[in-house]
This record gives sequence, C-alpha cells and structure tokens, in this order.
Amino acid sequence: MSEQIKGFSKLSKEAKIEWLAHKHFEDPEAAIGLLKTYWHSEAKRQKLHDEFIENTVTNYYLPFGVAPNFKINGKVFTLPMAIEESSVVAAASKAASFWFDRGGFKAEVISTRKVGHVHFIYQGAFPQLEQVFEKNKERFYTDASGITANMRARGGGIQEIELIDKTAAEPGYYQLEAHFETCDSMGANFINSCLERFAETLKEIVRTSEEIDPAFREVEVIMRILSNYTPECLVRAEVECSVEELVEGSGMAPEDFAARFQRAVRIAEIEPYRATTHNKGIFNGVDAVVIATGNDFRAVEAAGHTYASRSGRYSSLTHCSVEDGRFRFWIELPLALGTVGGLTALHPMVKLAHEMLGHPTAEDLMKIVAVSGLAQNFGALRALVTTGIQKGHMKMHLFNILNQLEATEEERKEIVAFFADKVVVHNEVVRKFCALRGLPYAPESTKRNS
Ligand code: MEV
Repeated sequence: MSEQIKGFSKLSKEAKIEWLAHKHFEDPEAAIGLLKTYWHSEAKRQKLHDEFIENTVTNYYLPFGVAPNFKINGKVFTLPMAIEESSVVAAASKAASFWFDRGGFKAEVISTRKVGHVHFIYQGAFPQLEQVFEKNKERFYTDASGITANMRARGGGIQEIELIDKTAAEPGYYQLEAHFETCDSMGANFINSCLERFAETLKEIVRTSEEIDPAFREVEVIMRILSNYTPECLVRAEVECSVEELVEGSGMAPEDFAARFQRAVRIAEIEPYRATTHNKGIFNGVDAVVIATGNDFRAVEAAGHTYASRSGRYSSLTHCSVEDGRFRFWIELPLALGTVGGLTALHPMVKLAHEMLGHPTAEDLMKIVAVSGLAQNFGALRALVTTGIQKGHMKMHLFNILNQLEATEEERKEIVAFFADKVVVHNEVVRKFCALRGLPYAPESTKRNS
C-alpha cells in the first residue's frame, strides 16, 4: 500500500473497517468478522468504548484478574489486576499470602505535590524580569481563580509559582515552575489549564510593565505542560519480619534466603542491566493495578524510571536490609494517581475495581499500588534466588502453549497432569502433544512464542 488516505477519522466506523479490511488483509471478511466478535453486545456500552479514542474499530481484551489477601496497614484488600503476563497475578497472590501472617504490608504517603512548567524564551535582562514577576506574582493566582475554584473548595489548588533561570543550560531559556495539590484527581487537565492561563498572564505583565526596557517587552512561550516526573508525589511501602520467619518453601535456610535476597537487591542497586529487569518486575505489579483502576500507566512508568535514575545512575526502586535478625524490604516511588475524573467515572470495569478496593482516595490508591509493586518484586526475587523463575512462569505459560497448539480438553488434562511434577519446557510440551496425537514430533513447524 503506498497511497495516503485523507479524512479517515471522518469516515463512519463501518467505512473505516471496510477500508482497513480490504487494504490490509488477505481475507477481508474474516478480518471484519473477527473485529466485530470483540464488539460489546450492548450498543450503548460499545459506544462508550468507541468514544474513548479516535478511530476505534473494536475492543482489545486484557485479562482482569484479582489477587486476594493483601493486608495493608491492617486492612485486607483484593487487588484488581489487568495484565496479559501469565505469572503476575499468581506471584502477587502468593506474596500477599506470605506476608499476611508476617504482619502484612505497611504503607505511607510521603508527599502529594505535582509540578508543571511554562517553558519560555526571554531576551531581556533577568533582574528586570524577576522584579516584574515578584511584583505581579499574586496576579497568577487571581487570573487562574476561575480554573482553581473547584479544586480550592476540595482543599487543593496552586501551591507555589517560581521563576527559574535556565540560561546556563540554554540561552534565553526560563521557566515558570508551578506546584499543585490536585486532591483525588490525577490533575493533568487542571494543571495544564492553569499553566496555559499563567502563560497569558506572563505575556501580559511583561508587555505592560514600565520596569522593563520597551525593547524587551515580549516573551516567547514555547510550551505549557505538566511534568510527569513527580518526585514530590511519593509513597513508601514495606514489609518486615524476623529472619527466622522467612521460611519460603524451597527448603533453603531462612538466613541463607535473607542473605541471597539482600544480595539480589544490592545487585539491582548497583548494576543498571539488572536494575532495569528488577524494576520491570516491580512495574508488572504497579501497572496491572494502575490499568485496572483507570490510571495512566505511561505517566507512572515515566516517573518511576526517572526517579530510579535520580542519583545519575539507573538503580533499583526497592531496597533491603538484614540487621539484628530483622529482614526489611521496602519500595519508594512516585505515583501520580487519581480516583476521581478521567476513566474512573466512565469505564464500567474501572468503577468495579474502585468499588472492590472500597472506593479509595488517591492517597489510599498510591499505597495499594506501591504494595503491589513491592509484592511483585518480592515474588520475583524469591523465585530468582531459590528455584529460578522458569518453574512458576512456565507452569502458568503452559496454558498459552496448549492454546497455541489448539489442544482438546482431554489433551490439556493429560498434558497438565504430565507436567505437574516437571519443569515446563516448550519443546517438551510439543513433544508430548505430538505423542498424544500420534504425530511425528516437529518443533520447527509449530507456532511458538515463549
Ligand atoms: C518478568 O516479567 C519479570 C522478572 O524478570 C522480574 C525480575 O527479574 O526481577 C521476573
């Protein structure tokens, strides 16, 4: 296909699907049939999903699983998790049960401040700009008061506005840096609306101030946007028990387990290659709850990875200590989450997830999500330093392999029983499957993704 399609977004949904199917698929009718199979049976529900984004042609399913037994600050939660990776929910549930009898998870919100910037260029003298900014500072608040009224009524709003000189890094570059409290909303729209208003106020005060040399009464606003890096919207979660209580089931002595676990965390603290995978595992737990609760996992990931690099070297988001016979394991990460607004008021499954969690505030949700990340990391490290990760992972992945092979119920039962006491290896599953069907074993011709 080489030609461009113009006005695609204006086409009806049916016309979009027709175009897509006939231009991209060998069997257009089969493609159309498949797309429509994933439509919701209630037209009203489907319309809701269609309108989340542009050019919706169908829905994309992710499993919505639940991980029970999360004791957090003494209260027990069942976590909603939307994720495709086979072993994540199982690992979360296992870690939750492990810590249930060892005091559960403790979590606290350290801070909830969010930040945004007006990035602008100014060619005049900084002292004059600064003088005018300080003199007119209140105007930024009053000019934005229409936007902030509701947020102020809920206890939030603009906390601080500063002028920052960035000219050492880039000639003429300055910022208005503003801090916000957005209560239970993630706050992106609120922050961006305030920043757009601040930019207008800035241009206005510079244009009309006598203190400024008439030749320099103009600022060039480049961007007005929140920052997804929120190091002051921070949460901490931890677990703690005596080393003797660390009986984890593989037969390893608790003190050896504690020492190996601590060593694994240390390696992630000092080695970016390992830290990346280590933190990826943390985000398995974080993202699954963030997605299920209708929050922006890209924003959460971006903030987490920047935070993990704050020393100048990418490092682990979790830490561990073993001192005086006590094992401690904790996470600290920025989480800008909302429990009102956005998808939380729209998506039926998101609403259900919030109800499942007892309608948490944004701070409650920060604690729950941080705990999910910590639990996931505990589960991964526990497997890594004992039996290895493949045993548990492949056990769950077995069903995916059987689905790829289109095994019958009978065959599934037999193969699952066969692997009950063995480590699952893709080729071995195929070999067993072929043997059951009386087929020659042909691994190369079998579709795989393992
Ligand atoms: C897999 O999705 C995540 C792990 O690789 C995390 C880790 O290695 O810590 C198991």
